[in-house]
Amino acid sequence: MSESIYAMKPGFLHARADRVCRAVFGDKVYVRGLIEASNSCMRDCLYCGIRHGNKKIARYSLGDGEILASVSAGFAAGIRSFVIQGAEDPAFGAERLAALAGKIKSATFGEAALTYSFGTMSRQDYAMLQRAGCDRYLLRFETSDEKLHLKLRFSSLARRLEALEDLASLGFEVGSGFMTGLPGAVEGTMEADVELCRRYGFDMVGIGPFIPHPDTPLAGEQCEGLDPALDACAAVRIALPFANMPATTAAGSIAPDGRERMLACGANVLMPNIGPVDRKKDYELYPGKICLDEDGMKCLGCLGLRVKTIGKNLSMERGDSPAVLKRKKISLEGASPVHPAEAEARP
Ligand code: 5AD
Ligand code: FES
Repeated sequence: MSESIYAMKPGFLHARADRVCRAVFGDKVYVRGLIEASNSCMRDCLYCGIRHGNKKIARYSLGDGEILASVSAGFAAGIRSFVIQGAEDPAFGAERLAALAGKIKSATFGEAALTYSFGTMSRQDYAMLQRAGCDRYLLRFETSDEKLHLKLRFSSLARRLEALEDLASLGFEVGSGFMTGLPGAVEGTMEADVELCRRYGFDMVGIGPFIPHPDTPLAGEQCEGLDPALDACAAVRIALPFANMPATTAAGSIAPDGRERMLACGANVLMPNIGPVDRKKDYELYPGKICLDEDGMKCLGCLGLRVKTIGKNLSMERGDSPAVLKRKKISLEGASPVHPAEAEARP
């Protein structure tokens, strides 16, 4: 990434990212129906409210029937892209997830895109999910700083990146991302995070501000607020014009208009939670999470109005990453012309 991007005033950076985003996606904001399948995490990431060590939360793990019921309700409401996210819960092994993928594909008549997010797995397990019809996989790298990664996650950055490489080589649409303002991040960490996204060419990138959770070891740490996350979002949009980028719930949780502001500086996706309402409060990764009492379908109405305030509209399409469509096109046709958004993004 050119240094010149970081020399820009935030207003210019955000406006340029917005131009790139609108050149690729127009006024569309893709909707992904999110279902939080389990909060029973066996890992202990220091920042995360559902870490194993937090004994204060009620643990749950949805049954396949509950997940399918949420998918079917979302499908009936017009949603054509579903994200099933869980913690690293041993109850959601690859065999079960593969069988569930088949059921979700049948319940949606093969029309909906299916994304899983269940943490780091072996290449063989990812291959099984891919064969079962799973289209996309989300696995944030969280921070590109090796030492910080190990300290916060008790697992190496190299292992995380290996998993991301496995996913890409198996043909998944690959999503990753990071948090801004993590305790221990220094000047240059965010630039390195953005650069890692560019180097890996992720198809989807989710970025959110770190929000300290009171029942984690990072309880007393600072929250740097929304601005660094907005800057990072804009920089990634400029680096990866074709990536699908959500306006994250974390952004909406530290500022009432956080998601709209992200959608105005490069983000093009929203992920309303369409899972069972009575479980939402237990998937508390960080405090102040929004929309906990809302039925996901009600969220759709609210989100439709919110995106209009920034001149955008919700789209229920599958919203495949144009990066993936472009990859397929290139392999079919050889070279491809430079897209106007790519020309805009060049320093
Ligand atoms: N603050 C903000 N985001 C968090 N996540 C986990 N814990 C927190 C926190 N305290 C993010 C991580 C994870 C995603 C599902 O939520 O980036 O990948
Ligand atoms: Fe669940 Fe980190 S605490 S993956």
